[in-house]
Amino acid sequence: MLILSCASKLQLLETLLKRNLPQTVAVYGAVVNINRGNPVGHEVIVDSWPDCKAVLTRPRTEADTDNTDLYKNIYAAFYWDLDVYRRLLLDTDAVNWKQTFRLYGYQNGIYDVSKDAAATKKIHLTATPHFTYLNPNPDKMPQRQLDPSFTISTLKSSHVDILNETWHHGGNEQSRRYLDNMVKCFPNICILDSNGHPISWGITDPIGAQIHGYTLPSHRQRGYLAIVLRALSMKSHVAGCPVYGHTAMNNVQMQRLLEYMGFQRLSELCHLCIHSSV
Ligand SMILES: CC(C)(COP(=O)(O)OP(=O)(O)OC[C@H]1O[C@@H](n2cnc3c(N)ncnc32)[C@H](O)[C@@H]1OP(=O)(O)O)[C@@H](O)C(=O)NCCC(=O)NCCS
Repeated sequence: MLILSCASKLQLLETLLKRNLPQTVAVYGAVVNINRGNPVGHEVIVDSWPDCKAVLTRPRTEADTDNTDLYKNIYAAFYWDLDVYRRLLLDTDAVNWKQTFRLYGYQNGIYDVSKDAAATKKIHLTATPHFTYLNPNPDKMPQRQLDPSFTISTLKSSHVDILNETWHHGGNEQSRRYLDNMVKCFPNICILDSNGHPISWGITDPIGAQIHGYTLPSHRQRGYLAIVLRALSMKSHVAGCPVYGHTAMNNVQMQRLLEYMGFQRLSELCHLCIHSSV
């Protein structure tokens, strides 16, 4: 196992992962963010270099690492050779199994290896399949006019309480800290009403995915999230990030909106594997 820290090797890896889109999209998004300043301190693990057969991105271990923090502890994986990936996970220190963490991958083998790891290492695994939507041409997204009393803006720390209260996965102190960090570190967009309060927003995460697309209930069905998605996607695209996100398989409304906006659903499901030692 190698930690890839050389800038030119990371650049080469980015190119290689880009060539293997869409299956690489989560690791690709993480590597792009690492190569553009690495604001949340992630690192890349490969089995070998230059002929790598498995790639894993993870948060660097730091003195203040909180092993219980499911939000902060986010991994992404891709393999060209499943046996190599299995050995990387099971036989090396690539993963801190004492942590509660979430792992994103689009290959069935990623889920299989997570299942094996859970059995061998006697840890819990919850795996939830999601649809993944990718938009290769965000500049072709339909454009809508915004009510002139509203403005497009970016989120601030003072908006984090409402983000945390409304997020399906939020509502606790760890999620609040995580959202605050995302707002400070990665592209986001919101629409402010005439009083300067956010009514619709979208943010991005360490693997470059769009998360927490939301419109306040009293403002829904007026095209606000469509406006947010276009602006956020253009921002990610200009920064060289892939434009994509995951949706729950029963969230038909969001799926319809993404399809209307020109996103394409990947044929592979996203395996979101949540491991915890407790
Ligand atoms: C899903 C959600 C974000 C949508 O926000 P919204 O601001 O109401 O979305 P929009 O008004 O931009 O789009 C909603 C509808 O308008 C349609 N639409 C948007 N722009 C359009 C346009 N220019 N022309 C025609 N239809 C359009 C969409 O297809 C959609 O139609 P449908 O509801 O009949 O499928 C909102 O319902 C919400 O916050 N839900 C809870 C959180 C959630 O599920 N988030 C997604 C997590 S992945």
